Amino acid sequence: MRIGVLTGGGDCPGLNAAIRAVVYRAARHGHDVIGFLDGWKGVRDDMARSLAPPDVADAILRGGTMLGSSRTNPFAKPEDAERVLATLDRHRIDALVAIGGDDTLSAARELSRRGRKVVGVPKTMDNDVAATDWTFGFDSASSVAVDALERLRDTAASHHRAVVLEVMGRHAGWVALATGLAGGADYTLLPEQPYDEAALLQHVRAGVKRKGFALVVVSEGVDLGPRKGSAGGKDEFGHELLKEREAGPEVARRIEAATGIESRSAVIGHIQRGGSPTLFDRILATRMGATAVDLIEAGRFGEVAVLRGAEVIGVPFDEALREPKVVGPGWIDLLHTFDA
Ligand code: F6P
Repeated sequence: MRIGVLTGGGDCPGLNAAIRAVVYRAARHGHDVIGFLDGWKGVRDDMARSLAPPDVADAILRGGTMLGSSRTNPFAKPEDAERVLATLDRHRIDALVAIGGDDTLSAARELSRRGRKVVGVPKTMDNDVAATDWTFGFDSASSVAVDALERLRDTAASHHRAVVLEVMGRHAGWVALATGLAGGADYTLLPEQPYDEAALLQHVRAGVKRKGFALVVVSEGVDLGPRKGSAGGKDEFGHELLKEREAGPEVARRIEAATGIESRSAVIGHIQRGGSPTLFDRILATRMGATAVDLIEAGRFGEVAVLRGAEVIGVPFDEALREPKVVGPGWIDLLHTFDA
């Protein structure tokens, strides 16, 4: 067989580990692998390279994606969809592995509905893909954010300040949850909860009273109400771009204005998405990439490799593309157990 592979959407640590697993598992079965560059853009515009085990031997160590990525929607225009099918035919692709989040997997499902043999691998630092317990990229990104919070703790303590750390997570607060919980924040704002300024100020004051400083984690997706600079535009899949919203700096301004406590903010943005994957992400990405090839071998097209408990299994695209997975009440309750 000739197996195609692509990575689409925002990059995250573990993508190279997944590509490597696809290539090695395919090679074991005697299949060739063709990597498409820059996500669906590479399939639309015919940009490809062949991939053999020596090309990916050390890839498990590296962040980013060696294939490149983009947020291209290949079904945005009918002529683009035709170009996608023509590229797959030109390369005699028997089956395609699409590695990505909701948007990339939605396009993969559409290709599958048009009769092509496609399987999916979920990835995203946001951890918001339905049907999988965890996505790779999340553990690495959250670990970077926790490290940032620990550094901010030192300087917040030295200067007796309130410090706000803004972390990524488009509409799901998983990274903020993990950072607040594991980093010992005094309060954490998630998009899953309505913004409650009175609670925020109460916990900041309590933190300062107890130990002389306060740490607040804010998810970029928190809705702070209408204000300047919130119009960041939309991407090709219709998602609002959050880069202009500056939730963290705004929360710091509000804390200082209401309490008089000197406040600062830090936005770590794409720093969270770079760097070497953690052990957890390397192993998860490896298992999912290998399982994607196993699904192809078994003729189980139209499925996505997901983590359920301790097992990586295949589920239909529709199941993986239900509503995005958000932080549930049990997690929120645990998080607020540790509020200052
Ligand atoms: O979806 C992953 C993600 O990192 C979000 O957490 C973030 O809002 C978005 O991508 C940023 O996208 P971009 O890399 O296009 O700025």
